[in-house]
Amino acid sequence: MRGSLTRALTGAMGLIAAAAGQAVTAAPVAADSVVVGGRPARIADAPWVVALSSRDRFGGTRAGQFCGGVVVAPTKVLTAAHCLGREVLGGEPWEVRDFVVIAGRAALRGQGGQEVRVSDTWVNPDYDPTTNAGDLAVLTLVSALPQSSVIGVAREGDAALTPGTEADVFGWGDTTGNGTYASTLRTARVQVLPDSTCEQAYPGGGFGAPYQGDTMLCAGDPQGGKDACQGDSGGPLVAKGLLVGLVSWGSGCGQAENPGVYTRVSAVLPARF
Ligand code: ARG
Repeated sequence: MRGSLTRALTGAMGLIAAAAGQAVTAAPVAADSVVVGGRPARIADAPWVVALSSRDRFGGTRAGQFCGGVVVAPTKVLTAAHCLGREVLGGEPWEVRDFVVIAGRAALRGQGGQEVRVSDTWVNPDYDPTTNAGDLAVLTLVSALPQSSVIGVAREGDAALTPGTEADVFGWGDTTGNGTYASTLRTARVQVLPDSTCEQAYPGGGFGAPYQGDTMLCAGDPQGGKDACQGDSGGPLVAKGLLVGLVSWGSGCGQAENPGVYTRVSAVLPARF
C-alpha cells in the first residue's frame, strides 16, 4: 500500500470504519512519519480553526469530528468540497441533522468554545470529484462567531503564496498514517512548494489525479515527516498570517516525495461569499 494514492475520501471513510470498529484502510506510511508535526496547537493562537462534526454519523468519542474548516467571516466557514460528499455524509449536508461546526475548542472531548449549526452550504460548482480540482465549499452559520476568530485570505500575487514560504497546517486528523486520530488540535510546519514539485509527484494516469496548479497548491516538508493526513481535510494552511490553502489530498502522509495538495483558496474562493 505504501506509495499508493490516498484518494480524497479515504480519510472520512477511514473514520466511518473506525467508528464502526472495523479496520481503517488509510495507506500506512513509514513509522518515522510524524504527520501534522507532532505539536499541539492552542486555540488562542489559531482561533479560526474549526472542526466539522456529526456525532450521529461519526460517533461521539471525538465529538463527531470528520473534517476541518476555517472561519473567513463571522458567519462563513470554508472547508473542502469533498468533505460534504455523499460518500462522506451518506446524504446531502442538510440531511445530516446534527451537523455542526465546533469553534473555539482545541480538545474535542472538552467543553470550550461553541457548536454552531449550519444554515446553508455552497459547494463550488466547478469542483471535480474525480480530480479534486476546486475542492472548496462555504458553510453559512446560523449565528456569528467573534470577529477575532476570522482569518484573512491571501490573494493571488501575495508573498504568502511564494514557494519557499513557511506555512502551518492545522487539524485533528491522523497523526501516524495508521488511523491514530488526534483528540486535540495539532499543527505542523511545512513550506509552500513550487507547482513543479507536485506536477512531478502527481503526473496523473492510473488512478491518481494530475496536480493542477491553477486550483491546487503544493506544500510539504522537503525532508518528509510533516504533513496533513486523513481527517485533516478542509482545515487551513496558513502562511504569513493569511489563509493560503485547505487540506485536500495527497499520497500517503509525510513522505518527502509526495507533498500535500491543498485547495488554492485565492483562485477558487468567489469574490463574494
Ligand atoms: N483527503 C484527506 C481527508 O479527507 C486529506 C489527505 C491529506 N493528505 C496529505 N498527505 N496531505 O482528510
